[in-house]
Order: sequence, then C-alpha cells, then structure tokens
Amino acid sequence: MEQVMKNAFLFMSKNKFLTKMAKKYGLRFGAGRFVAGETIDLATKVIQDLNKKNLKVTIDYLGEFVDTVEEANEMADHCIEAIEAIGKEKLNSQCSLKMTSMGLDISDELVLSNMRRILEAAKKNGVFVTIDMEDFTRCEKTIRIFKQLRSEYDNIGTVIQAYLYRTENDITDLNSLKPNLRLVKGAYKEPAEVAFPEKKDVDENFKKIIKMHLLNGNFTAIASHDEAMIEYTKQLVKEHNIPNDQFEFQMLYGIRTERQLELVKEGYNMRVYVPYGTDWYGYFMRRLAERPANVAFVLKGMFSK
Ligand code: FDA
Repeated sequence: MEQVMKNAFLFMSKNKFLTKMAKKYGLRFGAGRFVAGETIDLATKVIQDLNKKNLKVTIDYLGEFVDTVEEANEMADHCIEAIEAIGKEKLNSQCSLKMTSMGLDISDELVLSNMRRILEAAKKNGVFVTIDMEDFTRCEKTIRIFKQLRSEYDNIGTVIQAYLYRTENDITDLNSLKPNLRLVKGAYKEPAEVAFPEKKDVDENFKKIIKMHLLNGNFTAIASHDEAMIEYTKQLVKEHNIPNDQFEFQMLYGIRTERQLELVKEGYNMRVYVPYGTDWYGYFMRRLAERPANVAFVLKGMFSK
C-alpha cells in the first residue's frame, strides 16, 4: 500500500496542470510545514530564526518545468536575489539549485551562462552553491557541467545519490577535484537497470560512499533523516579522527526538527535545506512520496483552512 502511495505522489509531482494550479492558488494543504513561504522576505525570516538556533541553512528557490530561455533566466535572477539577500542580511546560508531550472533541457550554453552569473554573485557575497541532483536521465550531464564549473570556481558543489549503481565510480572519478559533496539516498523513481531497487542495498551503498568520500579527505554533507546513517557517520568520524569541520549533517526544513537541534547541541554542524517560492507543489509531492505518513498531516491542513 505504501509503495502504491509513493508512486502516486511521484506521478502527481510531475503533473503540469496541478503545478500551474498550485502556483495560482498559493501555498496550502499544509505545504507550509516544508516550504518557508512564497517570497524571499518570508524565507529570510525563517532563515533568521533557524540561524538563531545555530542551524545553518541552504536556500532553494523552487521551480519546476522550465521550458524556455526566459523562464531559465528568470530562475537564475531569483537565485541571485536570494544570494544577495544572504549577503545583505548576513544570513548563515548557502544556496541550492537545479540544473533544469537553469535551462539544462534547453542548452549547455544557457545553463553555463546562468550558472556563471549566479556563481559570480555568490563569490561576491561569500555564498557556496550546491547543484541538486535530479533524475537519472540528467545525471551524466549535471556531473559534466559541475566538473566544468568546478574548474572555474571554488564555491560550488553537487549532490550524489546512493541509489544509483554508477555512484561509487562517480565518487572515485570526482576525487581529483576535491569536491564538497552532498550525499543523499535519492528521491526519484528510477528503474532497476540504473538504481538499487532494495532499500537495504541503497543504505549499504550510502554508508560506503560516506566512508569513501570522508576518507578521501573531502568535505562531506550527510543529507539524511535516517538515524542509522547519522549513527554510522558519528562512529566513522570518531574511529578515524575526522574533524568536525570536514563534515556536516543536513536535513530538510520541517522534517525531524527536534533531531536537528539535538545534533547542534551534541556539537555537530547541522544545515537545513529551506525551499521557498510559488512553485511549491512538485517539491511538496516528493516529500509526501518519501513518507506517506505525512498524508495525515496534510489532510488535517486541508480541513483546518
Ligand atoms: P529514509 O527516507 O530512508 O528514512 C529513514 C528514516 O528516517 C525513517 O524510517 C524515519 O525514521 C526517518 N524519517 C524520514 N523522514 C522522516 C520524516 N518526515 N519525519 C520523521 N522521520 C523521518 N534527493 C535527490 O534525489 N536529489 C537531491 O538533490 C536531494 N537533495 C537533498 C538535500 C537534503 C538536504 C536532503 C536532506 C535530502 C535531499 N534529497 C535529494 C532527498 C533524499 O534523496 C531522500 O529522498 C530523502 O532525504 C529521504 O531519505 P532519508 O535518507 O532521509 O531516509
């Protein structure tokens, strides 16, 4: 049953009509638990509150289905606006973004020119930028663009997904760049030809790449709500005397909030991924797909409005 619900939410997350409607009618159905608001001003307030609790942030301007050059340029403008707000308000925040939002499905030239604009603004404001990883069909291209930009800028990292068979090779291949990587399990529905279908294999591969990347001496963000992965990392860093400033835990805004604060109290670096913007629908559906238990929460949200 849970698998059916997961697939249904992932299917709905790709629906263009529902995405458009959601944009038109605004943040609702309890999505505010996972999305900081529709404007940069609202997101800034949320980040200030998190920073006060010693939580670091990475901000993400949400955007789905970018089909035209104009839309991609507009998305880049929004990212720059967020980066400038980080600089102006002295927020402890990085920035995350998706290559498709920058025009990946249109042309490499467009993505590169938007990314260079963003990275210049980020450099000026002392902001680090992480490229999210999307579905498998975009993985190779995203890594190619990351490598190109990494050769030009220091303030850029990317995400690597433990569920893909190719990932171990990517970790080895990218090591020469000494990259700052965010390691995740992977959020998209992928076929068994490219990704481990069993959760236990994904978890094993996740542990394997955490160990590889940390022991290679690289900065590693362990982006997971899974206690087993957090415990594994704690043991590993203790065993190998890896300093606290070589890694951090990351979680999504609105998920395991208490645990985020506990990890800070325990002395670890904790970063919260804070999405904002009018295009909240696809992101919200993917969060429900990860944990259908949240549907009860959503139903409550629907009826209390
Ligand atoms: P998993 O889903 O396996 O859950 C394990 C356990 O964690 C659960 O059994 C429960 O105990 C706990 N848990 C999970 N969700 C919970 C909840 N809502 N409330 C309470 N407990 C909960 N993916 C991707 O493909 N590309 C990307 O770029 C990114 N970026 C990204 C950034 C950040 C900062 C994070 C945290 C995650 C991503 N992801 C991602 C998503 C990632 O791939 C993955 O889908 C989710 O993090 C869910 O997997 P977990 O590792 O959290 O554990």
